[in-house]
Amino acid sequence: MPIKEGDVVILYLNENRQYIVKISRGATYSFNEGMVKADDILGKNYGEFVVTHIGIKLRILRPTLVDTVYRLFRRCTQVIYPKDAALIALKANIGPGSVVVEAGTGSGYLTAILAHFVCPTGIVYSYEIRREFFEMAKRNLELLGLGDCVVLKEKDVRKGIDEREVDAVILDIPDPWNALSNAYESLKSGGVLACFLPTLNQVEKTVEEARRLGYLMIESEELLERRYKVKLGESRPETRMIGHTGYLVFARRP
Ligand SMILES: C[S@@+](CC[C@H](N)C(=O)[O-])C[C@H]1O[C@@H](n2cnc3c(N)ncnc32)[C@H](O)[C@@H]1O
Repeated sequence: MPIKEGDVVILYLNENRQYIVKISRGATYSFNEGMVKADDILGKNYGEFVVTHIGIKLRILRPTLVDTVYRLFRRCTQVIYPKDAALIALKANIGPGSVVVEAGTGSGYLTAILAHFVCPTGIVYSYEIRREFFEMAKRNLELLGLGDCVVLKEKDVRKGIDEREVDAVILDIPDPWNALSNAYESLKSGGVLACFLPTLNQVEKTVEEARRLGYLMIESEELLERRYKVKLGESRPETRMIGHTGYLVFARRP
């Protein structure tokens, strides 16, 4: 399908130089390789080339969800990494039609991923206490066009969750133990609680409170991801890796 207003594209030169832009009629984009006009991309198909004003050819590629969220969104908080977001979505059983409560919204990275999975029939209610993060998340989410599947709430999740019978509650806040009782009231029977926690003392407090409240099937885990440099005869792990993102605690309401 030809590229239209509002689409997001990657302009690819090589493995080290790629740019991601949202197409807006009349816009121009400047890179080291020269300037490109949005109007020269509109109507082209993914996989074709656009030529910069100094004659460099860039391949127009279709971005994935991860490309769009992690390369186009602005970041004002720590964000959930794709590996953790993927496990949260899978273990919280999130799919089309799911009703999910999330806090805090932060930069909206996890919100966008959850919205992608619940759309078009489900909804993500996302709670955020800080106005400036709420506003930035809103702008980020507009880039994806999944607005119909997200309700942003400027509200403290510890002071109450309005929704009932939800499929999952996902907490990425510094003190999730203070919101576990509200999450319990909000979840349907069999609904999944998922918490993302950077430190182990947060894990202990969260698990203790989850046990006290009667959550079942409580699991705590960490995911490690290692990338590889692959070249015939020389393949090995990359020297640098992200050693720690956070821990995950999952539990179910009986
Ligand atoms: C680490 S960020 C969340 C990042 C988000 N998961 C993402 O992937 O972009 C934590 C956010 O929780 C918000 N927050 C902290 N306590 C909260 C609460 N009690 N209710 C709602 N939001 C809260 C903070 O303002 C901050 O924006």
